[in-house]
Amino acid sequence: MGHEDDIGIGVVRDVGEGFTAELAELWYRVSVAGGSVGFGTHVERAAVDPVAAHIAAEVAAGRTTLLAARRDGRLVGTVRLEPGPEPVVRHRAMLKLLMVDPDFQRSGLGRRLVDAAVAAAADAGIEQLYLSARSRTGLEEYYSRLGWREVGRFPGAIRVADGDDRDEVWYFRPAVT
Ligand SMILES: CC(C)(COP(=O)(O)OP(=O)(O)OC[C@H]1O[C@@H](n2cnc3c(N)ncnc32)[C@H](O)[C@@H]1OP(=O)(O)O)[C@@H](O)C(=O)NCCC(=O)NCCS
Repeated sequence: MGHEDDIGIGVVRDVGEGFTAELAELWYRVSVAGGSVGFGTHVERAAVDPVAAHIAAEVAAGRTTLLAARRDGRLVGTVRLEPGPEPVVRHRAMLKLLMVDPDFQRSGLGRRLVDAAVAAAADAGIEQLYLSARSRTGLEEYYSRLGWREVGRFPGAIRVADGDDRDEVWYFRPAVT
């Protein structure tokens, strides 16, 4: 178990090739451990690389804000803000890619990342935040406890594995700290 006191959180500005690889590695480790971040537990390591490269390109283009948690230089957590793309939705952003390295989970880092993302959104003039999570993972209770309100649910919208469909649950909160 890591010590969250030693972990700094900051906005990612430099996304060289090294960053894509470390993002992919973290993403893979979290997925294999059962995390709800776009893949099932049987994901191949190589399948994560292009998705991580896409996020790095989005960061480089300024289309998304990525916050990274590091301990002794090592990437141990992320959270991402995706602002509404059209004029009528620019006052809101979607919170995505909240993940903490399995070695560092359950020591308060997830909450710190969410708090940092909410603060970054408020600083950027964003008024509303939303996110989606898969059901029956414990995440429903997690986000409710952090002050998010369930606003909808798509039944069976996430196929975690053959025969294991989960609801996609949508949450909302104002971007005020
Ligand atoms: C969800 C996640 C970001 C939370 O971060 P964290 O640092 O582990 O959580 P925190 O330390 O802030 O909060 C811990 C508390 O939240 C709850 N909690 C956290 N993750 C939980 C989970 N998967 N299921 C149930 N409760 C959970 C527990 O109550 C826990 O307290 P406890 O240890 O006393 O039981 C992290 O577990 C993670 O990366 N999970 C895999 C990726 C993922 O599913 N992300 C969500 C995408 S929508």
